Amino acid sequence: MENWFPKVYNSAMKPLEKIRVSQLREAIIEKAHGRVLEIGSGTGANFPFYRNVMRVDAIEPNPQMSRQSTPQIAKSHVPIEIHTAKAEDLPFKDNFFDSVVATLVFCTIPDPEKALQEIRRVSKPGAVVLFLEHVRMPQSTLGKAQDIITPLWRKTFDGCHLNRDTLGLISQSPLSITKVDSYYKGFLLSIECVNDK
Ligand SMILES: C[S@@+](CC[C@H](N)C(=O)[O-])C[C@H]1O[C@@H](n2cnc3c(N)ncnc32)[C@H](O)[C@@H]1O
Repeated sequence: MENWFPKVYNSAMKPLEKIRVSQLREAIIEKAHGRVLEIGSGTGANFPFYRNVMRVDAIEPNPQMSRQSTPQIAKSHVPIEIHTAKAEDLPFKDNFFDSVVATLVFCTIPDPEKALQEIRRVSKPGAVVLFLEHVRMPQSTLGKAQDIITPLWRKTFDGCHLNRDTLGLISQSPLSITKVDSYYKGFLLSIECVNDK
């Protein structure tokens, strides 16, 4: 998986971070508590925002991305450990986490349904599951434009599906959605769920 994407990820994110993405990250992460699992932590963009949590276990399959999180771990206020793993096969026991965080990652996970089942398995009954994800837009022209761009986009941006209906996938999963906030005409969604198993 050695490729150019991890090398340019932080620079590519700079314009996005300017349009409030950092504030949206912070707003979702402040709802996490206790033992936290972060899915696909990438270069650790969320790490400085964790404050009132016990500890964060982050999983990330690409060591090139994880290597870049070292400065972010240094800035963090809580203990953070990164595990090399995929969301579809989480290396944790059942009913373990109080909170799960996933930002800008469900677009890239090859089997998102399996990942949602795994999140349900490893999180406690009543755990909060927090997403900040870009999705297929509801407007038909914009959504169709995303469909057209996606095949090339996926090849260029490390498997990212620009048109993934992550809200639909979560609705069909065993997690219960408690709140959805929409930004940029529905391009970016903040989705709060509870694991009410
Ligand atoms: C666009 S980056 C987002 C990184 C970070 N979550 C953020 O908010 O900046 C997508 C990340 O998903 C990771 N990823 C790809 N496949 C994955 C999988 N099956 N399980 C978990 N993470 C995965 C990639 O390695 C990459 O770090």
